[in-house]
Amino acid sequence: MYNFDKIVNRRQTNSIKYDREKAQDTRIIPMWVADMDFETLPEVKQVLIKRAEHGIFGYAAPTDSYYQSVIHWLGTRHDFHVEKDWIIPTPGIVTALKLAVRAYTKPSDNVMIMKPVYYPFDASIQLNGRTVIECPLSFNGKQYICDFDVFEQQIVQNNVKMFILCHPHNPIGRVWSRNELYQIGMICKKHHVYVVSDEIHMDFVYGDNQHIAFYNVDQSFKDFTIICTSPSKTFNLAALQTSNIIIANEDMRKKFVDEKIASGISDPNIFGLEACIAAYTYGAKWVDELLVYLQGNIDYMKTFFAEHLPEIKVIDPQGLYLVWVDMRSLGMNNQELEDFMLKKAHLWLDEGYIFGTGGDGFERFNVACPRSVLKQALEQLESAIKEIKVTVRA
Ligand SMILES: Cc1ncc(COP(=O)(O)O)c(C=O)c1O
Repeated sequence: MYNFDKIVNRRQTNSIKYDREKAQDTRIIPMWVADMDFETLPEVKQVLIKRAEHGIFGYAAPTDSYYQSVIHWLGTRHDFHVEKDWIIPTPGIVTALKLAVRAYTKPSDNVMIMKPVYYPFDASIQLNGRTVIECPLSFNGKQYICDFDVFEQQIVQNNVKMFILCHPHNPIGRVWSRNELYQIGMICKKHHVYVVSDEIHMDFVYGDNQHIAFYNVDQSFKDFTIICTSPSKTFNLAALQTSNIIIANEDMRKKFVDEKIASGISDPNIFGLEACIAAYTYGAKWVDELLVYLQGNIDYMKTFFAEHLPEIKVIDPQGLYLVWVDMRSLGMNNQELEDFMLKKAHLWLDEGYIFGTGGDGFERFNVACPRSVLKQALEQLESAIKEIKVTVRA
């Protein structure tokens, strides 16, 4: 049994989660950026120590064992069968999104994303001189759905060239079903829209939900889609900057690799390669146990809100370790809510508004932390909310 209850002090470790200005007040519990407060798989730690002891850190190149580890993980965990040639390492998925925007569209082309969504999607498009077209998701008070008439209309009316899919979808926690993915793919195929499927959260899926790799929905999707995968969320390796981009179509692969070379991205990080191999080779049981722990945290949070703060609605996540919470009943505007969380509840969360249209009044909680920390955070929130209620009454 792995111990996810263990508290590891992350302050003064060059961590963006703990060492940035906002977290300097040690009462603040950071639950914003998507990295976990758990130590990674022991085999990953061991392999990194061993490689560090080797003492030579010259330029690196992936060996066959790197490719085989990616093939093994995707095949065994996701029934997603990829060929060695299809795998392109990049130093992160956001980098890959930017490369894809440049490889498959021209300046001022339109690129569509669903909203609300992981905010670097906008930046990846805009920083490369392309225009964001939004497809707003509908929220029925419990869950989010995509209206496929709106999805198609937005593509046609705006002559969209590329769609970036977030699958599972950060921040709303949806794991898209086969039927939804089929509709997305078929509409994009009909209108010659490239699809970039960001599947970084693919390993975090709960209950009866199942992650279906976009290529597995219909074989023809291989002709116009790339799939972004990575061990970084699953094994808490973000700073090792190693992602595995899967591109089956030869022409798309060439365009992507050309763009990668033109952007000056060369050999991968040796520690990232070693960690990826160890994680994908030995990590299955660790991830199984992690998922049980995370489900426990999510259940704990849902029960806490239902019993203590029923006016606040937790959107039940189908996937991710990020929980999207509807705080609109507190009646605060974005700035008030942000100040309240930081200064009164002493929680550093990702504010809903940064995810764009549909995000106002929501907060995203990262629950990949020991349960005792989550408990403390929720208690802090409850006391802060009780205090404003007393003040309003007085
Ligand atoms: C949907 C999504 N894509 C990409 C990333 C970041 O990927 P990377 O660190 O590999 O650039 C995140 C991190 O939270 C994410 O949620």
